[in-house]
Amino acid sequence: MKTNRIYNFNPGPAALPLAVLEEVQQNFLDFKGTGMSITEISHRSKQFNDVINDAVARTKRLLNLDDRFHVLFLQGGASMQFAMIPMNLLAGDSSADYVDTGTWSTKAIQEARIQGKTINVAASSKDKNYTYIPKNIHFNENAVFVHLTSNNTIKGTSWSDFPDTKGVPIVCDMSSDILSRPVDTKKFGLIYAGAQKNVGPAGVCLVVIRQDMLDRTPDTVPTMLRYDTYVAKNSLYNTPPCFAIYTVGLVLKWLEETIGGLDRMAEINQQKADLLYGFMDAGGFYRPTAEVASRSLMNVTFRLPSEKLEQHFVQQALENGLGGLKGHRSVGGCRASLYNAVSLEAVEALVDFMKTFENKNG
Ligand SMILES: Cc1ncc(COP(=O)(O)O)c(C=O)c1O
Repeated sequence: MKTNRIYNFNPGPAALPLAVLEEVQQNFLDFKGTGMSITEISHRSKQFNDVINDAVARTKRLLNLDDRFHVLFLQGGASMQFAMIPMNLLAGDSSADYVDTGTWSTKAIQEARIQGKTINVAASSKDKNYTYIPKNIHFNENAVFVHLTSNNTIKGTSWSDFPDTKGVPIVCDMSSDILSRPVDTKKFGLIYAGAQKNVGPAGVCLVVIRQDMLDRTPDTVPTMLRYDTYVAKNSLYNTPPCFAIYTVGLVLKWLEETIGGLDRMAEINQQKADLLYGFMDAGGFYRPTAEVASRSLMNVTFRLPSEKLEQHFVQQALENGLGGLKGHRSVGGCRASLYNAVSLEAVEALVDFMKTFENKNG
């Protein structure tokens, strides 16, 4: 099919695989012979039950989850999880360790503090403007969980390996790198991710929670804010975001059947990031902002010699069919988000453009 789609480096909502968008388009007016679109059928119908069950099963297979884990679909984005996690998991005077690696971790900490929960910031990279991931952290062995942000979308850093928490379960915001690589899920008590970067459209948040984490919720937590409500009803206590869940299911199918799983996805993601960082490291005109050992493979943040050139770069790139390269408004600069659906071909096109831009403006 001929399209006028651009190479999309948006940070989120972000690129989706073209094959997924085409499948949505093809099935839109008549979903599975119902004579209705997926946005028009009941969330209690057999057709939608198949959709949600398939998405759950694919998530379990892709993440290699054992029987202790539940896969849930919630609303309110990853930001709602910042509040729900301490609300459900920190009862009484129990405490949790948080690692502050930038804006999103800071917000997670704030939401726990608003509720008067006991939070220990075990490590922070604020001293160097969040350009690195802290090492050799001492965690409190009595903590209920350790909260981490696996990939820092704004600062362009990520945990290449998860730290040894001495058996304390990790609760992790994986919004911007979930399903980009295999992870050892045995270390985790809860994983959450706003779908709109690596798994689908906005409007749904994927939550993976281990059975034993469910027992901690105080009776005073309202029904819609309790994880056990979603577990008991397979995320269908109330009307879920059906269209978003359906599209997530198609992305998961693409990951399993077209890409071939997370090992292969990780290889492709590494190749894309190596190409872009390698090009920038060999020059000097474009300067990556994160420390080398902490670099994100998903969000490549970089600066040009001046803010004026950065603006010109973002604008010229768009004129050449490369979109979404402006850095987050809180930090400036440039950022190329290389999520799963961004192809190697897109990164090659970006590097070609960067060479031409440097030759003209360097
Ligand atoms: C790492 C991370 N966590 C949380 C969020 C907030 O997600 P949401 O908009 O779904 O609440 C974002 C959004 O960019 C993010 O990148």
